[in-house]
Amino acid sequence: MASIKQFGKKKACVIGGSGFVASLLIKQLLEKGYAVNTTVRDPDNAKKISHLVALQSLGELNIFGAELTVEKDFDAPVAGCELVFQLATPVNFASEDPENDMIKPAIKGVLNVLNACARAKVKRVILTSSAAAVTINQVEGTDMVMDESNWTDVEYLNTAKPPTWGYPVSKALAEKAAWKFAEENHIDLITVIPSLTTGPSLTPDIPSSVGLATSLITGNDFLLNALKGMQFLSGSISITHVEDLCRAHIFVAEKESASGRYICCTHNTSVPELAKFLSKRYPQYKIPTEFHDCPTKAKLIISSEKLIKEGFSFKYGVEEIFDHTLEYLKTKGALKN
Ligand SMILES: NC(=O)c1ccc[n+]([C@@H]2O[C@H](COP(=O)([O-])OP(=O)(O)OC[C@H]3O[C@@H](n4cnc5c(N)ncnc54)[C@H](OP(=O)(O)O)[C@@H]3O)[C@@H](O)[C@H]2O)c1
Repeated sequence: MASIKQFGKKKACVIGGSGFVASLLIKQLLEKGYAVNTTVRDPDNAKKISHLVALQSLGELNIFGAELTVEKDFDAPVAGCELVFQLATPVNFASEDPENDMIKPAIKGVLNVLNACARAKVKRVILTSSAAAVTINQVEGTDMVMDESNWTDVEYLNTAKPPTWGYPVSKALAEKAAWKFAEENHIDLITVIPSLTTGPSLTPDIPSSVGLATSLITGNDFLLNALKGMQFLSGSISITHVEDLCRAHIFVAEKESASGRYICCTHNTSVPELAKFLSKRYPQYKIPTEFHDCPTKAKLIISSEKLIKEGFSFKYGVEEIFDHTLEYLKTKGALKN
């Protein structure tokens, strides 16, 4: 006979469970007693889902196969779920055809997930957007404060096509499409807007955002140039601990009064400022501190005031963000002491 605990178990679905943020979110949900359904593109790829299989020891975790562009793939995983977290997004910075590789599938994917949620009468959907959907614009200035009322200037990106333009366009347009669909179909939608996220990962490979965030320490020139590019395009280097980001997802999902968009960002800085901080904290690494090709000060900060006012508190500051990330890289053999 089923116990009361089993009857009382809340069920959540995490779309894109194999990813960096999603797999930790699943762990946190299981630890909170949720039964979890998750989707991956290729459930037969044992290496890609090994970390999810390991999480099955923590509680009820069912793994489904689902491709963002195939609508019917989402009916079974979201069935019976109170909460659906949509984190899957196509990422291909090297693409020569961002329109077809990232933008169209991101929008179609979000709409497919929302359609399935509408049919299944899911109570609340939490979509993971990005600071890249908020901060990119051509407004000159310093000390700007970006909040949930700001949207990235998609027209500028589509016209000027700066490097990596396809990703921010895909995130901004997918989030906008989600808001339109949710309004028209009376779906309780919340979007979480993370800044660059780093910290220990459950995934078999080191996530690309961890590589980007630690490029000043690892000395990877390609990634360091990408980090500088991020400051040029987005106006700042804004960083969050992956654990806090996952806690924020669950916080807004469970908080009855939560609504709208929520920026989740712990620390705002620039490449030169971050380099100074890191070189002082970790003198054992050769961290460059002179930059002639990057503004010393960030153009803007991304504010998490709305999330904090809702009652959320960040657990980790910038010191712990990097302490934890470096320890993680050492355990992966990617960084020496
Ligand atoms: N990490 C950051 O710094 C950061 C910052 C801001 C926003 N975000 C947002 O947070 C979310 C998670 O990011 P992450 O860093 O954890 O990403 P990630 O590790 O790259 O995970 C992305 C996930 O999307 C899935 N996916 C890609 N294309 C798909 C498709 N066509 N159909 C189904 N699934 C597909 C991938 O599945 P496969 O395993 O099959 O490839 C993977 O599980 C994303 O929405 C991202 O835009 C992340």
